[in-house]
Amino acid sequence: MKNKTIWSNRFKYKTSQSFQKIGSSIHIDKRLYEQDIAASIVHTQMLMKQKIIKSEDGNKIINGLKKIKAQIDKGNFEFKEKYEDIHLNIEKALFEIIGPSAGFLHTARSRNDQVVTDFKLWIKQASNVILKDISVVMKNLIKKAEKNTDTVMPGLTHLKNAQPISFAHYLLSYYEMLKRDKIRFENNLNLLDECPLGSAALSGTSYKIDRTYTAKKLGFKKPTDNSMDSISDRDFAIDFLYAAAICAMHLSRLAEDFIIYNSDAFNLISFKDSMLTGSSIMPQKKNPDPAEMIRGKVGINYGKLNAMLTIMKGLPMSYFKDMQDDKGLVFDGYDALKDTLTMSAELISAVNANKINMLFMANQGYTTATDFADYLVKNKNLSFRESYAISAKLVNYAEKNKKMLSELNLEEIKKFYKDLDKSVLKVFDVKNSMNMKKSHGGTSVINVKSMIKKYKREIK
Ligand code: ARG
Repeated sequence: MKNKTIWSNRFKYKTSQSFQKIGSSIHIDKRLYEQDIAASIVHTQMLMKQKIIKSEDGNKIINGLKKIKAQIDKGNFEFKEKYEDIHLNIEKALFEIIGPSAGFLHTARSRNDQVVTDFKLWIKQASNVILKDISVVMKNLIKKAEKNTDTVMPGLTHLKNAQPISFAHYLLSYYEMLKRDKIRFENNLNLLDECPLGSAALSGTSYKIDRTYTAKKLGFKKPTDNSMDSISDRDFAIDFLYAAAICAMHLSRLAEDFIIYNSDAFNLISFKDSMLTGSSIMPQKKNPDPAEMIRGKVGINYGKLNAMLTIMKGLPMSYFKDMQDDKGLVFDGYDALKDTLTMSAELISAVNANKINMLFMANQGYTTATDFADYLVKNKNLSFRESYAISAKLVNYAEKNKKMLSELNLEEIKKFYKDLDKSVLKVFDVKNSMNMKKSHGGTSVINVKSMIKKYKREIK
């Protein structure tokens, strides 16, 4: 058997050289070695407990597997392309270390249930890493927001000045997005929490195995209930890639905002030099490359999700080699998102509000026109539509006379509504406008401060 494939007895010819290269996934799925060995150890313990294999063989297998893990940990293990994947590489190595006893390991299992088990275990730990990384970004948003509850900037719709908001309120909108992202990853963790091991090739097994024991020992809630679904299910990979894609999309939007706000035209924020790069020819330049990478990386996440969905489309029941590419897609999606999260956390810490420019721009574009209309509704018994029309005329006047709304005097305002006193002038103050937004979820300092308190309590 040495140096031969597991199935060599059945085959007249060797596998094509080119297919061996293309079909081998070891260079990718070696990332599953810890999960593969952990699952094999538990499987062996179960086989021993059920007296399906002798403890003598079982103990040899477990010791051998531990040795292999130590070798891989230290980088002393030679992965062989001809053994296709991580599962067969480890089984082959086990034969080399412990001899014929290794032959008992693959009792009552198949690579089909083995690979899904390993993959689920990997996605579990990867999701937990991502959840922590998302929390770091969220905490940095809170820190930056705390310093900017009073920083007025123009809130934009259609990239046109709309209404005054605080920079803190803007930043915390991303906190909410990331909070939902975490729930998406958590939902997947709940859904995938069933152990496929013991489903074997597709139909289950005639050995008296204890799947509940295996499931519990591997940290799953329970075993899966249908052996065919168990081995052909890749929903958990798709859900992971989907959660990653949305999260990357959110951060791509943040990055794009920052790029726009940092542009010379807007000049609302600046970054520490550590988050900028220079130009090879233009000496004056400071470019926001990390933000641009965050904006772009989402392309990888969408691509991997799309590829995974396409592989699964129309795939008949049950296992097919098509699915082997699932690991590479998930690993790439994970790596891309991890980089995005690392850069986002740093970028948020490195951002500074250019408060004077923010305040100046918040006053441009008649951002308090709605406040004037609201004032008329509240104080003059007009309907909102009537007030809206009066305020629109005032804006036309200000535009024609090249004045900001806050620069108009009472006499000018009275041309559009007679019965007014100087208390109206306050509505054109952008800070006042911001602080009037006391409705739940609004941008007033008082609201944002109490949201920050809540966020600090809930964030783990
Ligand atoms: N490397 C394979 C994969 O990831 C393992 C499953 C192989 N099963 C099989 N019947 N060829 O898909």
